[in-house]
Amino acid sequence: MRALVVGAGGMLGQDVMRLLGDDAVGLTRSELDITDARAVRDAVAEARPGVVLNCAAYTNVDGAESEPEEALRVNGEAAGIVAAAAPAVLYVSSDYVFDGTKTEPYVESDPVNPESSYGRSKLAGERATAGANPRHFIVRSSWLFGAGGKNFVDTMLRIGRERDEARVVADQVGCPTYTGHLARALIEIAAGEDYGIHHAAAAGQCSWFELASAAFERAGVDCRLEPITTEEYPVPAKRPAYSVLGTERAPLLPPWQEGLDAYLAEREVHA
Ligand SMILES: NC(=O)c1ccc[n+]([C@@H]2O[C@H](COP(=O)([O-])OP(=O)(O)OC[C@H]3O[C@@H](n4cnc5c(N)ncnc54)[C@H](OP(=O)(O)O)[C@@H]3O)[C@@H](O)[C@H]2O)c1
Repeated sequence: MRALVVGAGGMLGQDVMRLLGDDAVGLTRSELDITDARAVRDAVAEARPGVVLNCAAYTNVDGAESEPEEALRVNGEAAGIVAAAAPAVLYVSSDYVFDGTKTEPYVESDPVNPESSYGRSKLAGERATAGANPRHFIVRSSWLFGAGGKNFVDTMLRIGRERDEARVVADQVGCPTYTGHLARALIEIAAGEDYGIHHAAAAGQCSWFELASAAFERAGVDCRLEPITTEEYPVPAKRPAYSVLGTERAPLLPPWQEGLDAYLAEREVHA
């Protein structure tokens, strides 16, 4: 599969590039700004890919509340630019397109209802991608962590080493997904012809508190964790209370605990 990866310098983009190897062309933001339609068309013409994997995004969930136009420009409009220029396209989307009021896993056919500016921009990107190219894969994932970027597990491990105790939200539940595992699933999806929406997140579910506890236990971090509610940790963007992703297709990812183990092992190697 000859692929072009845009947003190749991001946390997920780096893992996708590593797994694709020499078969792929990867362009970071400084090499290709996806809001520049002419530059996107030129890059596709030069790379001549069979598929474009769009890993570029405005990912500051709280920042998007005060910069909704910028989030929409990158996650929404530019997604349409990439899709229109590509022979086939994979757009990475988010569990935040759901409002979190369900009590069992969200599947591909469930109605969307984003409650944050970031979630609305990702939904706009899904629609722009689908509208611009019938050969599209829209892959929703969630709670990503990986070696190539800042993420919740990394932040908690740093805090845990600096402090004796920390408070972590325990009433938001999701699927923490290792980017190494997601990248493998994206490549599998992009190599096929099963167009449409796919949910690809780690199997199982947990809260942020449970994720931090598991990370501390595995990494041998001695820091007392206190579970708190979303109300006790106010942030600009509203997050879904429950955004577990299930799938109507064959599940592709292992349990989140395996992802956590793989991530911690990868950090050890690079330490
Ligand atoms: N992180 C999560 O928990 C999570 C959960 C669900 C879905 N997702 C989705 O997964 C995908 C990958 O996310 P990630 O965690 O890998 O995020 P990331 O590390 O922030 O990577 C996004 C990349 O896109 C680049 N970018 C931003 N604007 C661009 C533009 N105009 N043109 C080209 N590149 C641009 C960023 O460059 P700069 O860093 O220089 O801005 C960054 O390298 C995104 O679609 C995201 O919405 C993420």
